[in-house]
Amino acid sequence: MADTDTPRALLIVALQDLYDAELAWIERSAELQRNASYRIGTYLAEEARAAQAQAGRLTSAITALDGEVEGPPNIWLRAILDDAARDAETIAPGPLRDTALVGAFRKGKQAERVSYETAIGLARRMNQDELVRTLTVSRDEEARTDAALVLLLDTVLRDLVV
Ligand SMILES: [Fe+2]
Repeated sequence: MADTDTPRALLIVALQDLYDAELAWIERSAELQRNASYRIGTYLAEEARAAQAQAGRLTSAITALDGEVEGPPNIWLRAILDDAARDAETIAPGPLRDTALVGAFRKGKQAERVSYETAIGLARRMNQDELVRTLTVSRDEEARTDAALVLLLDTVLRDLVV
C-alpha cells in the first residue's frame, strides 16, 4: 500500500518538500556567498532571510496538520544549488559567473513557486482557507524574487564584455 494515500498526507509531503527547500537556501547561502560577487552575495543574504520566514510559516502549517516537519531531502532544489556551487567554482568571477548564478537561482525560485502552487491547490480543495492565505504569501514572495532576479540579470549582462 502507498505511504501517501490521502489529500492531507500529500499536502504534508508537499509542505515538507518546501520546508527542506527553504532549509537548503539557508544552509547553502554562506558557502555560495564566499565565491560570489557583492551583488550576488547581497541577493543570497536577502534570500536566506526570506527563506527563514518561509520555513517558519511551513513549520506552523505542518504542525497544524499534525505532521512531522522534517521529511525527505528536497532533491530538486539541492541539485540546483549544487549546480550553482559548481558554477561558482568553475566559471570566471565577474559578470560571466554572475550570469550563470542568476540563472541557477531563477530555476530554484520558479521551482519553489510552482511547488507552493501545488500545495495551495491542495489546501484550497481541502477548504484550509488560512493555509491558502499563508502559502500564498510565500508563493508571492517567490514570484517577486524571481522578478527581481530578472532585473539583476539585466544589470549583470550590461557589464558582460562580449
Ligand atoms: Fe523560498
